[in-house]
Amino acid sequence: MESTSLETLFVHAGNYDDWPGEMSTAPVLVPSVSFRAKTPDLMDAILGGEVPGFSYSRHANPTVQGFSEAVRVLEAGQTAQAFGSGMAALDAALFAVGLRPGDHVLLSQDLYGATLNLSEQIWGAMGIQVDVVDISHTEMVQEALQRVRPKALLFETLSNPLMKIPDLDAVIARAHECDCQVIVDNTFATPALARPALHGADLVVHSATKYLGGHGDALGGVVVGRKEYEERLHQYVKLRGGVLSPFDAWLLHRGLKTLGVRIERQVANALVVAHKLRDSGKFRRVWYPGLPDHPSYERARTLFGERGFGAVVTVEVPGGREPVFRLLSRLKLVGSATTVGDVYTLCLYPRVASHRNQSPQALAAMGITDETLRIAVGLEAADEIVRDILAAMEE
Ligand SMILES: Cc1ncc(COP(=O)(O)O)c(C=O)c1O
Repeated sequence: MESTSLETLFVHAGNYDDWPGEMSTAPVLVPSVSFRAKTPDLMDAILGGEVPGFSYSRHANPTVQGFSEAVRVLEAGQTAQAFGSGMAALDAALFAVGLRPGDHVLLSQDLYGATLNLSEQIWGAMGIQVDVVDISHTEMVQEALQRVRPKALLFETLSNPLMKIPDLDAVIARAHECDCQVIVDNTFATPALARPALHGADLVVHSATKYLGGHGDALGGVVVGRKEYEERLHQYVKLRGGVLSPFDAWLLHRGLKTLGVRIERQVANALVVAHKLRDSGKFRRVWYPGLPDHPSYERARTLFGERGFGAVVTVEVPGGREPVFRLLSRLKLVGSATTVGDVYTLCLYPRVASHRNQSPQALAAMGITDETLRIAVGLEAADEIVRDILAAMEE
C-alpha cells in the first residue's frame, strides 16, 4: 500500500490489495483454530518461525493479522499485535517493556481507572513500583522521571473524562533522556487525530472496542510498536492467550474502514454539543478541549490542528449524584452506558463506572467530582443530542 494519506489508509490498510490474482475486496473471516501444512517440513518451519505461515490461531490467524496490520499502518508502527481487549493490550505493553521486580513504572494520574488498577493491583503485586504524575505538567513529569527513574511511562493522548492533553513531544523527549520507554494509550484520540509513534512513542495501545471498531459490537485491543517489541508481544499472546477472536477482528476491521468519516462527524458534533451545553447555562462547567477555557485548548490546537478536538464532552451537573441520576433516567435519545466511541451518544457517570474504585484523593487530583458526567458524542444530529440532554435537565 503506497498511500500516505490517512483517508485512503483507513479504507485500504490491511486489505489484500497486493495479492496476486483474485482476492475478496472485504477482509476474509477465517475462524479456523488450526491450519494444515502441506508437509511436516513446512509445519516444522512455520512453528519454528523460519517461514511465515499459520499453524494455530493462538499464535496467529489471518483475520486477526489483517486487522492488526491495518492498525499498524494507521499508527505508523513497525509491528502490531492484537488482543482480546484493551486491558489485555495494556497488560501486554507493560510486559513488552520488560518490567522486573523493583522496577518503577510512572503513570499519568488521569488514566482510565482500570489501567490504574491493573498497574497497582496486578503489576504492583509482582513487585513493580507504581508512581503517578500529572502528565499535563511537563516540569512535574521531568522531576518525577529524574527522581523515580522509571522503566516505562504510561499515559493517554486525551485523558478520560476531562480531556486533558500532555505536551506529547516534550514529555516523550524527557522520558527518553531518562532511558524510560513510553507507552501511549491513543484510544480517545485515535490515529485520525494524533499518531503518537510519529512523536517518538515506543508503544501505542488501543482499546479497539471504542472508536476503532466504532459500533459497540466487539471487544478488542492492539499494541503497535517498533520491531524490537515484536517478539515479546507475540510471546505474550502465545503464552498468556489473551487472543482476539477472528470474528471480532473481522467486525473491528470492518468498523475501522469508516473511522475517518465517523471521527470527522463525531468531533464536529462534539463541538456543537459543547458550545450549546455551555451556552445553556445549566451546567457548572463544560469540559471540552475545543473551548478556549479548557486547560489543554492551546495544546489541542497544536497537536490536532484542523482535525478537531475529540468526541467527548464532559459536564458538571450542579448538585451531584441525585440530579445526575435524574438526568440519566430522563434521557430518551441519548443512552446511559459504560463505553465510548459507538455510533450512539452515550453518557457515563465516572463516580459509579470508569472511576468507581479510585480513592477520594485520586479523584480530587484528577478533578473528578460527584457532578462530573461524561458524554461520548455519537453520529446523531447534534441539535437532537443537545435537545435531549437539555430536556432531561428541566425541572
Ligand atoms: C482509554 C482506555 N484504555 C483502555 C480501556 C480498556 O479497554 P477494553 O474495555 O477494551 O478492555 C478503556 C476502556 O474503557 C479505555 O477507556
